[in-house]
Amino acid sequence: MGARPQLSPPDYFDLPHIDEAVQVIQRTTSLRPRIGLILGSGLAQVVEHGMDVEAVLRYEDIPYWPESRVVGHPGRLFLGRWAGHPVMLMQGRAHYYEGYTMAQVTFPVRVMQRMGIEMLIVTNAAGGLNPAFEPGDLMLIRDHLNLIGMMGLSPLRGPNLEAFGPRFPSMRNAYDPALRELARRVAAELEDVPLHEGVYVGLGGPQFETPAELRFLRQIGGDAVGMSTVAEVTVARHGGTRVLGISGISNKAVWDEDLEPTHEEVLEAGRIMVPRMARLIEGVLRQL
Ligand code: HPA
Repeated sequence: MGARPQLSPPDYFDLPHIDEAVQVIQRTTSLRPRIGLILGSGLAQVVEHGMDVEAVLRYEDIPYWPESRVVGHPGRLFLGRWAGHPVMLMQGRAHYYEGYTMAQVTFPVRVMQRMGIEMLIVTNAAGGLNPAFEPGDLMLIRDHLNLIGMMGLSPLRGPNLEAFGPRFPSMRNAYDPALRELARRVAAELEDVPLHEGVYVGLGGPQFETPAELRFLRQIGGDAVGMSTVAEVTVARHGGTRVLGISGISNKAVWDEDLEPTHEEVLEAGRIMVPRMARLIEGVLRQL
């Protein structure tokens, strides 16, 4: 074998780093999660809608775990049960634009995988590129355009972690078709849970998009745009974890209207989206 490139944290994490975090979490609870959940901007309160919490950890107390410094991302890890399933839930996430590397941003997903999750439910707040989307609507992610990753910013950069998956993982059906079908069915039976389906565009942020960029993103097939998720899903799929992705549309991201998105607006729309997101997630969990 040739020499391995010299990459060390925070650019690259190996199994011993990941397992150090796993051990700290496992010291607080004997619960063995099967499902991971990531709550995005403005969605932190989803945890209060039905999860029976057994243990809570602060991100700062877990080795290598990146803290989120963004308003609306409290930075707590919950372990417990939801609809009978053992789950591990992240209240808030770290973003690339905060200064973290892709390896740091996705470190929690690796920890979840070593903890034993088989499925990841990932949520985010996103701007609606599709003119039919209104703030407060939900969008099931069918596929993504990983613009930040297509230019080389992959969380899989560096020596491949063979314990998780292959060097060149497939990203076909990254958002599990059976889980999407289930989510569609659940939403159709719920009142007041408008659920669209579409393509999520992942950018680096933190600046919002110019009108020309929004027109471009729509033309290349985007329905919603945000600053997270795509790296986490890449790592999830590398490790064979099934993914269900749901965007909450916090604002219209359209080029032909003079709209100025703000982070406050994202958090405000979260208040409408929280009960919808919680009911959809609960419905899905009940039918798994
Ligand atoms: N653009 C990018 N990211 C976002 C937006 C947006 O309009 N809204 C929420 N996250």
